[in-house]
Amino acid sequence: MIVAANWKMNPALDQASVLATALASQSFPKIKRILFAPHPYLVPMSVRLTSAGLEIGGQDCHFADHGAFTGDVSAAMLRDCGASLVLLGHSERRAAHGETSEIVAQKTTAAMAQNLDVMLCVGETKAERDDKKAEQVVIDQLQASIPKHAPPNRLIIAYEPVWAIGTGAVASPDDVAAMHNVIASVLAERYGANHAPSILYGGSVNADNAASLFSIPLVGGALVGGASLEAGAFAAICAAAQAANSLRVDL
Ligand code: PGA
Repeated sequence: MIVAANWKMNPALDQASVLATALASQSFPKIKRILFAPHPYLVPMSVRLTSAGLEIGGQDCHFADHGAFTGDVSAAMLRDCGASLVLLGHSERRAAHGETSEIVAQKTTAAMAQNLDVMLCVGETKAERDDKKAEQVVIDQLQASIPKHAPPNRLIIAYEPVWAIGTGAVASPDDVAAMHNVIASVLAERYGANHAPSILYGGSVNADNAASLFSIPLVGGALVGGASLEAGAFAAICAAAQAANSLRVDL
């Protein structure tokens, strides 16, 4: 199980430091914890948290190695600042920065070339779900965002219905299970069932709903936004993941 914190453009540096202290003091040895930190915080967070067992990731990167791209960062820069992975194709970037799946694929190739793992986000809008196009939208995003030669061991998929992000509305267990099945079959077709990447759920995951989401067999963890800014809530989600992990191992 993987639990990833997506801090987005939060919090202030002094609060980030308080959160880092809490994250470092918590121990969840049976799951993978990831922090996607704002770029200016990557160095201090990797210095403080890598030794506490967290993996640190950037929230985006450019597809070019270097050049005249004011405000952007390269995959190599992320890696050199202590990141071992990068979040790509988040719906906030797709919507607000015009990132197409083709651009996401280019970024994925660039990141993997620098030995970064990639957590690639897909998900439908409310209108697309209402139009019964959710599955096709996600299939199309997966096909176009995952580069042909992307190794499965460097890839994690995060299914985040856009309408569930930051809204408190979580997809129903049936809808999550159905979409994770669809994603798993796309990945199995490409990589074979035994090598398919993990699939996380994201969108209003919190301390109260985490355990029920993790009881869905194909849910391999969570990508957590708002609740990752509260140390106690994030710890509760990690505890739920660790409990679900032990159950799966026992089975
Ligand atoms: P949320 O954000 O948990 O606040 O809904 C999730 C995300 O955008 O990754």
